[in-house]
Amino acid sequence: MSEVIEARVPDLGSDSGVPVIELLVKVGETVKKDQGLLTLESDKATMEVPSPVAGEIVEIIAKLGDELSAGDLVARIRVAAAASASAQAPAAAPAPAKPAEAAKPAPVAAAVPAPAAKAAVHSPDNGELVPGKVPYASPAVRVFARELGVDLAQVKGSERGGRISKDDVQQFVKAALAGGAPAAGSGSGLNLIPWPQVDFSKFGPITSEPLSRIKKLSGANLARNWAMIPHVTQFDEADITEMELFRKKLGEEHKDVKVTPLVFLIKAAVAALKKFPAFNASLDGDNLVLKQYFHIGIAVDTPDGLVVPVIRDCDQKGLIELSHELAAISVKAREKKLTGADMQGGCFTISSLGGIGGTAFTPIINAPEVAILGVSKAQTKPVWNGAEFAPKLMLPLSLSYDHRVIDGAAAARFTVYMVQVLADLRRLLV
Ligand code: COA
Repeated sequence: MSEVIEARVPDLGSDSGVPVIELLVKVGETVKKDQGLLTLESDKATMEVPSPVAGEIVEIIAKLGDELSAGDLVARIRVAAAASASAQAPAAAPAPAKPAEAAKPAPVAAAVPAPAAKAAVHSPDNGELVPGKVPYASPAVRVFARELGVDLAQVKGSERGGRISKDDVQQFVKAALAGGAPAAGSGSGLNLIPWPQVDFSKFGPITSEPLSRIKKLSGANLARNWAMIPHVTQFDEADITEMELFRKKLGEEHKDVKVTPLVFLIKAAVAALKKFPAFNASLDGDNLVLKQYFHIGIAVDTPDGLVVPVIRDCDQKGLIELSHELAAISVKAREKKLTGADMQGGCFTISSLGGIGGTAFTPIINAPEVAILGVSKAQTKPVWNGAEFAPKLMLPLSLSYDHRVIDGAAAARFTVYMVQVLADLRRLLV
């Protein structure tokens, strides 16, 4: 009959009462000699307690969270038949078990923190040593992660029981680099967990197609801007009942061009940018660059994705000239004929979904600009005029702004002013 021996904690140097952070084996499992049975983690090092023999785990005595010292009993192992003859391993004490205090463990070289394990210092300063909260990884993987500056708490383990492998750490670093985020938890960067990897075909039929070049470019810009700019969106509504009458009249007078609400919004935005110069600005380190020109970017929807051509010097152009330019850039955008120069130099962007619908949305700022106006569909609504409800055509405005540059009060004043201008276009002359 094969022998059952005890595996005990080897000499831990000056450490004692070291918490068990991970059980690496189960009862009934076959282990090799020197295979890790459990992981201990002190404030100085992470180390595995190795099996002194090859065999089958009969009993695991140590539990997660137990605080172990040299000589404490970890597990009982039935020595494998082949290994039985040579089972007189230094740490193997023959069963029946002796009380832990009576057992004198012989030193086991593999279980003493090796130089590499010593380097795997895992600071407990944020309570990470609480069992179950500590990332599961071998000492070698911990060393590897530490060398790369990877915080293992951010890494999802793909091995059995969620154990983190070296490959998991590599994939994490690759994902972090692809996303432009530093791998280290240094306080900078987003320290994002990897993107979920899902085999969608498991859930139903799928097809796959590459993103257009425009979508890839604009997606990268949008992701950066959304992640790096503290956005706030201010909503308001402008009574454009009178503006609409005027717009229709202009349309009848100028049949060669479509005059839409957008050109009025461009003029109202320019007036507001003049009145509130911080909106016509860009951050340059600790400086705010204030622009003396008024170039407005217009978000244009194309079959390949979103592009933002810029109409220059809008302060110097009238509604009809702007209508012609708007028509020209829309055609150019949809025919993919915009050049890089056509899309540079914008001060402020307007994104109009008013031709489609919706009541409000939160547009993403087009960096290095500091604000963007979203426009939704005008609707006739009953508005109280002090004596009665009157039907008014109300235009929803959504102003997203960079809160590092613009305060909430300034944003409210900016939209209120735009609302006033759109409600009474004579204000453009003031
Ligand atoms: N409320 C009600 N109706 C509106 C409106 C508004 N806010 N804005 C436009 N309309 C009307 C127009 O008057 C026009 O009506 P008509 O056909 O009866 O004359 C119709 O909606 C279509 O207008 P559109 O062709 O879209 O012109 P536009 O000047 O408003 O917009 C573009 C031009 C190029 C900006 C627009 O076509 C576009 O691409 N918008 C999408 C921008 C986008 O995708 N933004 C998303 C970024 S997150």
